[in-house]
Amino acid sequence: MIGLRRVGPDEFVSRLDSVLDIYTAAMAPPTDQLSGRKTIMGNHATHPGFTCLFAELADGTPVGLAYGFHGVPGQWWHDVVHQAVAERRGETSARDWLGDALELAEVHVHPDHQGKGVGRALVLNVCEGRPERTVVLSTRDLPTAARHLYRSIGFVDLLTAFVFPGGYERYAIAGAMLPLPSG
Ligand SMILES: CC(C)(COP(=O)(O)OP(=O)(O)OC[C@H]1O[C@@H](n2cnc3c(N)ncnc32)[C@H](O)[C@@H]1OP(=O)(O)O)[C@@H](O)C(=O)NCCC(=O)NCCS
Repeated sequence: MIGLRRVGPDEFVSRLDSVLDIYTAAMAPPTDQLSGRKTIMGNHATHPGFTCLFAELADGTPVGLAYGFHGVPGQWWHDVVHQAVAERRGETSARDWLGDALELAEVHVHPDHQGKGVGRALVLNVCEGRPERTVVLSTRDLPTAARHLYRSIGFVDLLTAFVFPGGYERYAIAGAMLPLPSG
């Protein structure tokens, strides 16, 4: 039995090692990127409107998480994506999608617990009751479970084949209006 529990920024920061363990199991990133990722995640917890859900086993072991925050100018992802959406879709579109947005930064479920509806429950619940107009995210532009899940929830592509500065992998930037249709 897996339950969802809201986790505040202080607990999130104090449990970053568990968060990193789930992230590592789910994403298999190069190990030399982990300490940088930990720093970025810790910084995310200071952003306005930070919200996080852990998916936990009955004994409290976290096996999944989703978190996000209110996007504002000055945040790296927000600024890069706002500029890219403005260039490809126009400033009005960028403002409509990113001007009042919950930015969903991470959604991960440990591989041992994937395919049971945990990811869907995390996304729907982390977006529930949010005051923002939209929810936006980036995900690898590949036919992944994440792409399938977000589309089935109602996300649409804002950009595809987008390469972040300094990166090489292609990402999709996707967004949905809040409240989510199935939320
Ligand atoms: C994306 C992720 C969080 C989904 O978690 P989950 O608990 O497995 O999700 P759910 O069980 O709620 O739903 C998975 C959906 O993807 C589908 N799916 C699974 N593998 C798939 C694949 N390779 N391609 C397409 N769809 C796939 C499932 O059938 C299911 O869809 P359905 O409900 O229509 O049947 C999880 O797969 C994960 O952690 N992936 C690795 C990390 C990642 O990519 N995170 C997102 C970064 S933006």
